[in-house]
Amino acid sequence: MKRVISVVGARPNFMKVAPIHRAFQKHLEKFDHAIVHTGQHYDVSMSDTFFHDLDMPTPSWFLGVGSGSHASQTSRIMMGFEKVCMEAEPDYVIVVGDVNSTIACALTSVKMGIRTAHVEAGLRSFDRSMPEEINRIATDAIVDDLFVTEPAGVTNLLREGANPSSIHLVGNTMIDSMMYALPKAEASSILIDLGLRTSEYAVVTLHRPSNVDVQERLEMLLNVLAEIGRRIHVVFSVHPRTQKNIKQWNITTPENVRLISPVGYVDFLALLKNARFALTDSGGIQEETTVLNVPCITARTSTERPITVEIGTNVLVKPEYEFMLTAANQILDGRSRKGAIPDLWDGQASHRIVQLITSH
Ligand code: UD1
Ligand code: UDP
Repeated sequence: MKRVISVVGARPNFMKVAPIHRAFQKHLEKFDHAIVHTGQHYDVSMSDTFFHDLDMPTPSWFLGVGSGSHASQTSRIMMGFEKVCMEAEPDYVIVVGDVNSTIACALTSVKMGIRTAHVEAGLRSFDRSMPEEINRIATDAIVDDLFVTEPAGVTNLLREGANPSSIHLVGNTMIDSMMYALPKAEASSILIDLGLRTSEYAVVTLHRPSNVDVQERLEMLLNVLAEIGRRIHVVFSVHPRTQKNIKQWNITTPENVRLISPVGYVDFLALLKNARFALTDSGGIQEETTVLNVPCITARTSTERPITVEIGTNVLVKPEYEFMLTAANQILDGRSRKGAIPDLWDGQASHRIVQLITSH
């Protein structure tokens, strides 16, 4: 029996690990799969709700690290995870995505000689001012197995000198979760609760430091939303980082933009699926909208997920007032792009990953 531990910490990690856990349940004779939660995100709406929505088991370990500077958060996660590895003696560790929990746990397990995999390896925005880009590059440089969501990831890893035999294009576990949860989303009452009708609203999330940690930029983006709100209902799920800044800078938010606390995964999928378009700076939402064929305006100058722009519904728009508004008006005037679904984004990526781990 081999012991495998997967790491979750922040909101986008839960949907990437849930289907991997389910895939391991089909191999109970070979694997004991457990989950460690670092506690990087801890609000009920940023953490607990996903366990219920994704039918995930309670984590076997909870490190409770909470918020902090990059160095303090990363180091607290490392110390906590080292204890877990000493106690549990895993044969294999899986980290996902690009958050501080990802690099912290990879660095810990690799140095303890534990075979370690990165799910969502190889993505690059080529913007090193993003903390996530540093986490991605550093994680991929040290882990043993690289599970990749899209072809650009393979190209990036090869260019950086990764061993070709460690690179596996498997598809997207986030889409596995989406396909699992979409039937539940059909039963969500969120549209009724918010008084919305299909295709008659835009859904918004913004949380990148480059957009929300600079007061003028955040105010400009809220002005864009107010202007969009003159043409269509706007629902803005406000991330705690963004909420904190709105409060500390005493920003008056537009009356015609509906600000809501972060919602659970099933409700958010319902909002996304039925929206006229999404406006976001999230990584995962660029992928989800591509599969749902919902137009997506990404308020960024680069993306680590180029396939969503190349064949999906995503457009990158420089976060400036005129550019953002033009992009929104184009969609509202009926000029949005139709997308295709990337290869292997078929709901089966987690099974491919577990098959590959089995074959090792
Ligand atoms: C983190 C990830 C980012 C990811 C995002 C997903 C890093 C470096 N960043 O950014 O890549 O896209 O999660 O949502 O790992 N806070 C709360 N409650 C919570 C969590 C956070 O109030 O449950 C507040 C705290 O004030 C905290 C701030 O949000 O200081 C930022 O949290 P943090 O985890 O440091 O970064 P995120 O912006 O959430
Ligand atoms: N999400 C959610 N509720 C919300 C906003 C987003 O469940 O109110 C989901 C979304 O569907 C996606 C994930 O959170 O699956 C994306 O996480 P986030 O944008 O926080 O992180 P990123 O992908 O940018 O790292």
